[in-house]
Amino acid sequence: MIKVDSLVKTYPASKGNPPVKAVDGVSFEIAKGELVGLLGPNGAGKTSTVKMLCGLVRPDAGRIYLNGQDLLAKRSMALAGVSAVLEGNRNIYWRLTTRENLEFFTALNGQDPKTLVSQIDHYLQFFNLSGKANVEARQLSRGMQQKLAIAVALISGSQVVLLDEPTLGLDVQASYEIRQLLKTVVTEEGRTIVLTTHDMNVVQDTCERVVIINEGRIIADELVKNLLDLFRVRVYRIVIQGALTDEQRSALANIPAVIIESESPEQTSLSVRLEDSSVLYEVIGVLGSGNSLIESIDQEQNNFERIFLELVEGGGHSA
Ligand SMILES: Nc1ncnc2c1ncn2[C@@H]1O[C@H](COP(=O)(O)OP(=O)(O)OP(=O)(O)O)[C@@H](O)[C@H]1O
Ligand SMILES: [Mg+2]
Repeated sequence: MIKVDSLVKTYPASKGNPPVKAVDGVSFEIAKGELVGLLGPNGAGKTSTVKMLCGLVRPDAGRIYLNGQDLLAKRSMALAGVSAVLEGNRNIYWRLTTRENLEFFTALNGQDPKTLVSQIDHYLQFFNLSGKANVEARQLSRGMQQKLAIAVALISGSQVVLLDEPTLGLDVQASYEIRQLLKTVVTEEGRTIVLTTHDMNVVQDTCERVVIINEGRIIADELVKNLLDLFRVRVYRIVIQGALTDEQRSALANIPAVIIESESPEQTSLSVRLEDSSVLYEVIGVLGSGNSLIESIDQEQNNFERIFLELVEGGGHSA
């Protein structure tokens, strides 16, 4: 459904600032019915990539195919079934009411809004916007505008939906509801969604697969399940009473799999990445040599946030 090949984008120098290479050779493919998260730290190039995918920014090099159509050669055909919601650049009309926006975009899609009243009502209800149906979009709160923008993107029936930080600034319930909706749209309607997010709950909850970019390059493209499996069984947290001795500290510093996470006179916490079980014996040997009392050994939570940080800080991973 989406194929991106060796995308490059450099923003030109301006006002004394040097040029910025925002995207530096990004390639990926996304099949119909996939929900893929595009992740990365601030400034990684996520929004730039999404803007290129929806035709707002022209790449310096590389190719983009949407539903088999070459975006750079056949723009309108490629963008026919694509809708996008970008941060701070919402696809709604400020002077139209909430309901009018939904009607306008269903009509734009060649559907008769009158026959779709129930669908429009469904979206209004789903997004808790029924009470604001007749209020102009510019008078909605920021979160409500965001919800309306997403509703508009979905109601148009587009096969490809691009969402830049869809849950940013939404309340807990709205964020949860949008996640459920996105999952439904993908599993039941077979649409294809690419979203960027910094919210690891969104990733763990909705994305089958993530593409992680850092400094304009892809550092991981993997099923979330595989990343979780790969990292899960290997990290243990050991908490001991008291601080480490100097000998213990230098012995542990020689074991690359060990990170001292926190240390105080009362308690010290280590995390151990288990390449093989001998590492654990080694660590416990070091702790025993200083007569440290072990308070607990826990397998780390299956936490995507940690995996993300390891990937980004490690600058890449064999995963
Ligand atoms: N219009 C622009 N002109 C110049 N530089 C830009 C422009 N837009 C983005 N950049 C730069 O390109 C880089 C990538 O920005 P981009 O917005 O794609 O990052 P991002 O991954 O979406 O980050 P965030 O998580 O903060 O939203 C940054 O260094 C940014 O300053
Ligand atoms: Mg961004």
